[in-house]
Amino acid sequence: MRSAEDTLRGVREHISPSLGMLYAINGMDAVEATGDGALVSLSDGRDAVDFGSYAVTLLGHRHPAVTAAVAAELGRMPTSTRVLANPATAALADRLTGYLDPGRLTRAWFGLNGCDAVEAALKLARAHTGRTRVVAVEGAYHGKSLGALAATWSERYRAPVRGLLGGVTHVPVDVGALDAAFADGDVAAVIFEPVQGEGGVRPLPSEFLDALVARAREAGAFVVADEIQTGLRRCGERSLAVAAGLRPDAVLLGKALGGGVLPLSAMVATEEFHRPLARDPFLHTTTFSGHPLCAAAGAAALEAVEEHAADGADLAERVERGLAELCARHPGLLRGARGRGLLWGLEAASPAAAGDLLMELGQRGLLLSPCLGEPEVLRLLPPLVTTPAQLDRAWQVLDEAAAKITPDLAVSGTAG
Ligand SMILES: Cc1ncc(COP(=O)(O)O)c(C=O)c1O
Repeated sequence: MRSAEDTLRGVREHISPSLGMLYAINGMDAVEATGDGALVSLSDGRDAVDFGSYAVTLLGHRHPAVTAAVAAELGRMPTSTRVLANPATAALADRLTGYLDPGRLTRAWFGLNGCDAVEAALKLARAHTGRTRVVAVEGAYHGKSLGALAATWSERYRAPVRGLLGGVTHVPVDVGALDAAFADGDVAAVIFEPVQGEGGVRPLPSEFLDALVARAREAGAFVVADEIQTGLRRCGERSLAVAAGLRPDAVLLGKALGGGVLPLSAMVATEEFHRPLARDPFLHTTTFSGHPLCAAAGAAALEAVEEHAADGADLAERVERGLAELCARHPGLLRGARGRGLLWGLEAASPAAAGDLLMELGQRGLLLSPCLGEPEVLRLLPPLVTTPAQLDRAWQVLDEAAAKITPDLAVSGTAG
């Protein structure tokens, strides 16, 4: 096993000097060593409860059903020839189309990262309608590849490549502002996160989503629900958009879809939305789309998520209650908590206070994720498999760390 010192040197010298520094501070010179459920062990013997991992570990680390499925596929055919049909890939397509909105969302396309699914959906909407405009929502996060970045809101990521982006209108969360976005009759699709994740954990009001979808239908535009972070029961439902009756033309999944073991994303769509790909399956391909090893992880993950669904509902209630109590105890540092299910944002008094809190928590044994577009908000993403003892430990660490930080004196800015 490579030493912590060598690992941090490798990151610093060959990946990113500032990332290397940040990792060293967060880990107090230790690095991650093993993961098991909601627990991560570090190279120096300490361990930490993992309520972060950018929403990937909904099933925790190394969920046994997922690792077993991956091991079995490893012994069969981890990589596809792509000129022959692969059973693992087809099995995942069957499962996924029977999972979200059976009989309506009947077609699947697979990628590895969330932005792959976003790119596929935006390309299909354009190819289908012959129009180029996409309506997204202010505060949205849809990824950082060039097409997905066009739909992402944060200036921090858009500004350096502004000249290359176009064709996206961001609307404020205001029903009154929608008409103008559709006025030119050129909208191919609307894309939204039912709860904006990286943008600060903001659930979008149902009146707004209803109106957005209604305008899209009137305009003959497609409706794409980006549930890369919210889907798969992270927020209680398999898909929030489907459960809300929005009848999306495509639902995008990623992050937890690979079971916390492998990278996997998917676009699950109606036959109509998918039509350009049915006509020409090579219209949008990537070398590893539908990779059998990832597909095996995905199929096992879907089953495991359903097995843990009831535990998740119970855990979600306790998380909501605990966060309200925590905020009440630390009103100077914490402005409040908002979220749904197992996706919560904890808003600190400033980006610097959030950065200091993130670091303090990590050093005391609780890992959270910052919000990429809203640096004063930290995300709590407890896995479905969190034990009561791990949750108790998280509350204790949060309480102690919050007590340690004086918001006015916070100086670092590590979040974001
Ligand atoms: C809602 C949403 N869409 C898309 C993405 C992009 O996914 P990825 O980073 O895997 O490309 C993310 C990532 O955080 C996300 O939260």
